[in-house]
Amino acid sequence: MSFKQATYDEPHIKSMQSRTTFETITGEFSNSIIPQSMRIDQPSVPMIPEYDVVRHYTRLSEMNYSVDTGFYPLGSCTMKFNPKYADKIAAMHLFSETHPLRPEWSVQGSLAVMYELQEYLKEISDMDEVSLQPLAGAQGELTGVLIIRKYFELKGELDTRREIVIPDSAHGTNPASAAMGGFDVVEIPSNKNGTVDIDALKYAVTEKTAGFMITNPNTLGIFDPDILEIAEIVHSKGALLYYDGANLNAILGITSPGIMGFDIVHFNLHKTFATPHGGGGPGAAPVAVKKHLADLLPPPIVRKNNAGYYMDYSNSKLGNIASFYGSFGVLLRAWSYIKRNGADGLKLNSSRAVLNANYLAKKLSKSLKISHDGLKKHEVVFSSEQTGVRALDIAKYIIDSGMHAPTVYFPLIVKEALMIEPTETVTKRDLDAFVDIIERSLKEDHETISKRPINTASGRLDDVKAARELILK
Ligand SMILES: Cc1ncc(COP(=O)(O)O)c(C=O)c1O
Repeated sequence: MSFKQATYDEPHIKSMQSRTTFETITGEFSNSIIPQSMRIDQPSVPMIPEYDVVRHYTRLSEMNYSVDTGFYPLGSCTMKFNPKYADKIAAMHLFSETHPLRPEWSVQGSLAVMYELQEYLKEISDMDEVSLQPLAGAQGELTGVLIIRKYFELKGELDTRREIVIPDSAHGTNPASAAMGGFDVVEIPSNKNGTVDIDALKYAVTEKTAGFMITNPNTLGIFDPDILEIAEIVHSKGALLYYDGANLNAILGITSPGIMGFDIVHFNLHKTFATPHGGGGPGAAPVAVKKHLADLLPPPIVRKNNAGYYMDYSNSKLGNIASFYGSFGVLLRAWSYIKRNGADGLKLNSSRAVLNANYLAKKLSKSLKISHDGLKKHEVVFSSEQTGVRALDIAKYIIDSGMHAPTVYFPLIVKEALMIEPTETVTKRDLDAFVDIIERSLKEDHETISKRPINTASGRLDDVKAARELILK
């Protein structure tokens, strides 16, 4: 193992209060020369010279791992390499220094970008109307759930439509969003293929159902072939169908939520369309709907008339879900990424992401058991249960070998799960090296592997203590 991560004994920046030699000396002199009455107290801001700040953060970054460092196969997260042109465009001062309260006539360029992005997202999803406001996937989901709620409130059915149905393979944010929106969550089991159990769905969806939330392909990387029947079952009871768009990277230009019969969709722009989102942000999750829900979207929607682009705030039924216009920097990156790739490029990216997942599935299935047979889409889930090596230990071994670990212990329906999403931004060489590392991890004795990582800036962390004694500052 030739990997060794940089390690510094780096203090917290607040305890680094340091002055340049010049400031220290003049400070001492001025104390004696300047009369007391003429002195003012220094404001309490950290006094750290630029070179100390830059070196501090550079050292921290060297003790970290990112999509710019290497392969990042975190399943369900679509951690692909984000091209630098998108960052450059988002950083252009005419965009990044625009005040959100500037008059519309003076920001026509920014409005044009937002308008075009709305149009692109409609075309990609085959939906009718889009709001760019929500700030993350989970907030997009909450927006969607609130749209469902408002829809039934206006129909006078909210008292009876109390339930949202969700498959057991769903991402945790789905039930959380449904509950935050005031609904009861009804979970249905997956069938042996890892997709929706149609009989269970028929049983669960009733006149009490407000909506069914699903991602397709799902978190097992499997495309549900019964999606049209699912849409029919849900709609036949008057409920709405919600598409969690976190896995959109698998289907760009191939199919769409609109074709599949969905009423509401959120896009995780920060996964599919060029924004680095590791470490908790920033994100953007525009929400798209079919025509019958268009007036429930959060405003503003950017529109165009003969005089130019303008913000339309006439959608007042739901109200705002975030301040101003959403994560403008993330919207800019997505716009530039879609424009640069074009329809053909996006489709090619999805095809490559699917190819990489299937290559990995095939190659690694010699050592680990695949959760469900069949063709995969963007990701694949393995179980290490039969090998006797814990998924957590394999993950730590991978980190110790200089690559990022996959998602582990999710989805919850697979024991000792390793959920791997290679994306299109990885070479065959890296995929082969990744498989090689996992194969080596399976040969290591329990005593040694359970102490890993040893080549990183931080050793094995106490996850239980971190979860139980949560100190966020
Ligand atoms: C399937 C799925 N749905 C929803 C989300 C939530 O998205 P966000 O992290 O942007 O809130 C995720 C995030 O990983 C996801 O994988």
